[in-house]
Amino acid sequence: MNKLPTRVKIIDVGPRDGLQNEKQPVPAAVKIELVHRLQAAGLKEIEVTSYVSPKWVPQMADNHDVMQGVKRQPGVRYSVLTPNLKGFEAALADAPDEIVVFGAASEAFSQKNINCSIAESIERFAPVVAAAKAKGIAVRGAMSCTVGCPYEGEVPPSRVDYLAGLMKGIGVEHVGVADTIGVGTPKKVQAAIEATLKHFDIDHVSGHFHDTYGQAVANTLAALEMGVWHHDTSVAGLGGCPYAKGATGNVATEDVVYLLHGMGIDTGIDLDALVDTGAWISEQLGRSTNSRVARALIAKRKG
Ligand code: HMG
Ligand code: MG
Repeated sequence: MNKLPTRVKIIDVGPRDGLQNEKQPVPAAVKIELVHRLQAAGLKEIEVTSYVSPKWVPQMADNHDVMQGVKRQPGVRYSVLTPNLKGFEAALADAPDEIVVFGAASEAFSQKNINCSIAESIERFAPVVAAAKAKGIAVRGAMSCTVGCPYEGEVPPSRVDYLAGLMKGIGVEHVGVADTIGVGTPKKVQAAIEATLKHFDIDHVSGHFHDTYGQAVANTLAALEMGVWHHDTSVAGLGGCPYAKGATGNVATEDVVYLLHGMGIDTGIDLDALVDTGAWISEQLGRSTNSRVARALIAKRKG
């Protein structure tokens, strides 16, 4: 436990990963309000939207409106997904602080998600990374399917090693180790992180765990024990990837904040305000929250 960080940076990916899979169009005004509520609750990084094909992911077609509608707060970083130069050029008009290129440790997922092989994806990302750096925009790389793939099954750490090396080779500054379909368990997740640490130091690695099998809090703790102090989470546990059928949302931000505060780890986030935000967006979507902590705290409030 000696590597536990004393402070953790939470990146709320709810507006992007959380909402991208919603079948009904979510109005841009609701997405904007979600970003506003998250920043008011103390989030310092928010993944706002993605610049992908609207044919592939219709829910993110309002990327410009959302980014333009957000009243930015100093000290908050706004990140967006850009799979290729077309997406990056579209994003530039909205001045993101960070762009995210997203690859996969499994070939089949790369094909299904971004319609190209891993090697081709790296060729597409390279000019995006170079262009972003030239403009002083931070660059993150998301690595999907680092423990399991919906099409190929178990993914060995050697695949993560390979992808992390390719990401490093094109100048990606920080990578996220994603369990896209939430099948991971702590030792498998630690092995994926270990493979990543061959290429990136601990300050440039984040955890991104979906909670399909209810393992995401355990996996977050396993990553924390290795010293990983950046974590992608989604308020109310919203979300899923359209190209990973059956995969549910990210680990709920409320659950991770409760875990961290309970362990004396600082996040700068107001848990009560976060619970209110999760309750609000769940109501907008007409469903109940996926956060166990939010459910418990709301029940306690009602007394
Ligand atoms: P493609 O069809 O191979 O692209 O798609 P293309 O270059 O052949 O172009 C085909 C058409 O798409 C053209 O339009 C392009 O202009 C357009 P047309 O002439 O047919 O009208 N196009 C674009 N439009 C808008 N923005 C763009 C763009 N690029 C091309 N950037 C592409 C390749 C990557 C675009 C496509 O496969 C796509 O959009 N995929 C969606 C991927 C996605 O958003 N997945 C979910 C996010 S990843 C995720 O959730 C995982 C993560 O959370 C980590 C984890 O949990 O694992 C990050
Ligand atoms: Mg994800």
